[in-house]
Amino acid sequence: MRSLAEAKTVANRWIDIIHKDSLSAEEADAVMRETVENFANHFNRGFLEFRKSVENSGEKAAVEWTGKGAIVRDTTGREWIDCLGGYGLLNLGWSHPQVVDAVRAQLGRSPMPSQELLDPLRGALARLLALITPGDIQYFFLAASGTEAIEGALKVAKLYTGKSGFISATRGFHGKTLGSLSLMGKSDYRQRVMPLYPNIQWVPFGDAAAIQQRLEIAALVGQDIAAVVLEPIQGEAGAIVPPDDYLPRVRELCTQHGVLLIADEVQTGMGRTGKLFGVDHWGVEPDIICMAKSLGGGVMPVSAFGARPEIWEGMMSPNPFMHTTTTGGNPLACAAAIAAIKVTLEDDIPAMAADKGNYFIGRLQELAEGYPMIYEKITGRGLLIGQHFHNGDLGYQVAAGLFKRGVLVAGTLTNSKTIRIEPPIYIEPAQMDAVLDRLDDTLKEIKAGL
Ligand SMILES: Cc1ncc(COP(=O)(O)O)c(C=O)c1O
Repeated sequence: MRSLAEAKTVANRWIDIIHKDSLSAEEADAVMRETVENFANHFNRGFLEFRKSVENSGEKAAVEWTGKGAIVRDTTGREWIDCLGGYGLLNLGWSHPQVVDAVRAQLGRSPMPSQELLDPLRGALARLLALITPGDIQYFFLAASGTEAIEGALKVAKLYTGKSGFISATRGFHGKTLGSLSLMGKSDYRQRVMPLYPNIQWVPFGDAAAIQQRLEIAALVGQDIAAVVLEPIQGEAGAIVPPDDYLPRVRELCTQHGVLLIADEVQTGMGRTGKLFGVDHWGVEPDIICMAKSLGGGVMPVSAFGARPEIWEGMMSPNPFMHTTTTGGNPLACAAAIAAIKVTLEDDIPAMAADKGNYFIGRLQELAEGYPMIYEKITGRGLLIGQHFHNGDLGYQVAAGLFKRGVLVAGTLTNSKTIRIEPPIYIEPAQMDAVLDRLDDTLKEIKAGL
């Protein structure tokens, strides 16, 4: 109910909380209770039903407060090793000091753009992106979320080709706004909001012959296809790595049929899979690239999509305002992304992810072999790892057992058959071993109860 007086009181109280470095036990308790109430009454009560952080802690719902490196802490000081990493947002861990410093410095000068004067950081970030992305991709648009990057990529592909159809992969995930959602490769989030964008054809992921067939049929019947949109390694589907000849073959087919290849590197980009971008595993150069998540260094929301000059032409002329956003790619976001790129290159985050991923995946595979009644398989590349269980209940028990033991992974009551392990790339060897030990304890407990 509307009450401006109460709004002032509530805002003041929260500003006080924001300014605190730590909370007393009573304050932590009050914050926890109010947060649970706010989620139930004003945000989304379903979140409370489906989260281990609320459910399995009895009275004490876990309310996040701070984090450092690969550790996240709640308001009461409880700690978890973060093996969820914000679903790929936290390649550089929690609050990387160089990224935070860059944002702070920019914050002191100007956080948002004038819209009319030229924003120097926008130009600088676009140039950096041209320098780090594969092939001759040269122009970029900056936004905040992954889904916006995909929406923009679809628009650019339509402008350039004059065509409207897209090919997408089953089980793929590209975001939840209406355009990107149209590409989604499973029904869960689509069915209740139909009709979506109409001209999408799906093919099984990893099957180049299926794409060939689709393109040949499209050519035969005169169906428009603007682009093929793919995650190089499927993330949400459970870290699914395609066969080695898949992307190179898809690249050839796209070129042969005059169809663009859009790489969704929202989750696989910035070193996560052991190369700077997922397509780099196979030396493939997409026509349009999309990125987000860790591009902001885990500090600011930043996304981008980019293409070669000839493809970008329709964005610049005759109407250069064909695609705009007021706040996307603002100076704070750009400062964060510039710092994130610097750190990613200087610390060789891709090599770090490759080394640690080899170790982690190897050890997980050994564990999975010891518990065949629980695991179907382990998949992944670098530190984008999928644990696949025989059913959702087993996956949920694993996620809940780990949560109880101080390890954060994804996994909800609605979808726990596959659980990703996606820690900050700076996760320490001892922390990986602690996760594996705690996982072993969890698996023993689950096996005993089967
Ligand atoms: C591959 C991929 N594309 C797009 C998105 C959408 O990004 P966002 O959640 O920032 O809109 C995601 C998010 O998980 C993703 O994994």
